[in-house]
Amino acid sequence: MSSRIPGFYKLSQEERLKIVKEFAKLSDEDIEAIKGKALSFEAANRMIENVIGTHEIPLGVATNFLINGRDYLIPMAIEEPSVVAAASNAARIARIKGGFHTSSSDPVMIGQIQITDLKTPYYAKMQIMEKKEEILRIANDQDPVLVKFGGGARDIEVRVFEKEKMIVVHLLVDVRDVMGANAVNTMAEAVAPFLEKITGGSAVLRIISNLAVYRIARSRAIFDAEALGGERVVNRILKAYTLAKVDPFRATTHNKGIMNGITAVVSATCNDTRAVEAGCHAYASRNGSYTVLTHYEKNEDGDLVGSIEIPTAVGVIGGATKHPIARVSLKILGVKTSKEFGEVLASVGLAQNLAALRALSDEGIQKGHMKLHARNIAAMAGAEGEMIDKVAEKMVEKGTIRVDVAKEILEELKK
Ligand code: MEV
Repeated sequence: MSSRIPGFYKLSQEERLKIVKEFAKLSDEDIEAIKGKALSFEAANRMIENVIGTHEIPLGVATNFLINGRDYLIPMAIEEPSVVAAASNAARIARIKGGFHTSSSDPVMIGQIQITDLKTPYYAKMQIMEKKEEILRIANDQDPVLVKFGGGARDIEVRVFEKEKMIVVHLLVDVRDVMGANAVNTMAEAVAPFLEKITGGSAVLRIISNLAVYRIARSRAIFDAEALGGERVVNRILKAYTLAKVDPFRATTHNKGIMNGITAVVSATCNDTRAVEAGCHAYASRNGSYTVLTHYEKNEDGDLVGSIEIPTAVGVIGGATKHPIARVSLKILGVKTSKEFGEVLASVGLAQNLAALRALSDEGIQKGHMKLHARNIAAMAGAEGEMIDKVAEKMVEKGTIRVDVAKEILEELKK
């Protein structure tokens, strides 16, 4: 079934759910979970401490995503207007020239074990490297299930901090389809005493690194020049990208726009948004200064080609993904592995960024925001049903979005 669904935004909740149900083969129970209060107090109280209630934000689906020739509907949980529409719009443009194409590394996370109080840190590094196989064995003994599914500790790295008289051992763990924090932290804690014994040092930190440089997802797409608004817009997008590349003040906002999309999907699936955000922003400064996560170039046809490379510490099982909404969101996404999930996230990030740059380089960002904002204000002024759109439209025409203006227009229209 195609994810290209023109006019999806105009449908009622029931009509939208019917399409999503068919697309993702959801059960009636899944639909009820999305519609109702999915998370009971009891379940919430098992997730975190001191629970007093649950917090709801809208769950939408972005349409039009074609990734490696397959159609995806993208669940997004977010409070910000225009993000879902923008992602869908960019995905629609990407479709014209074949959609997104992706690749990724194995899902390898880093566990850090800090060993301090070393007289001879370089020497300690050598002592540790000699015992690599034994260290990996201790780590893998902690998680026979992960090993059974083809994951487990694969390698070690040792980084020396000479002045500080310490080293940090990186345990590289293929975590397969989980986010990995639990598995990696358990392994890091388990190997620490052995590392102390080998080196005579003292282990302090034993924890995952969120700079997941070995768990990378990439995506690329061609954005048709005409659909973007022509050569002028393409050139202006390239200029906007150039500023972001050289200026951390702009790069931060540029990347924030990317994370609008990524975080919304990570959130819909109850993965750890903070882990992904920290990883992406740190990755953006891996060469010494903070810069962009996406790149844009013009190809020989005059089209804009975009690419993105990001670390993606997300799981499709484990953690909070058993949350009823997260479970259905993953079903809608239809991703089978954490690698595939990472590649979808990269594609969403690229789409979100392109959409923002397109709007900023052309009509500006406020026009899109205005429509939704105007609808909210119209509803606040008492408009209902079709009247909401009519009042909103008139306000946008006038260029003034205020409750008193909405009330005036509403009175007029009622007459
Ligand atoms: C707003 O949430 C995101 C943007 O500021 C991103 C950008 O400027 O590229 C529109």
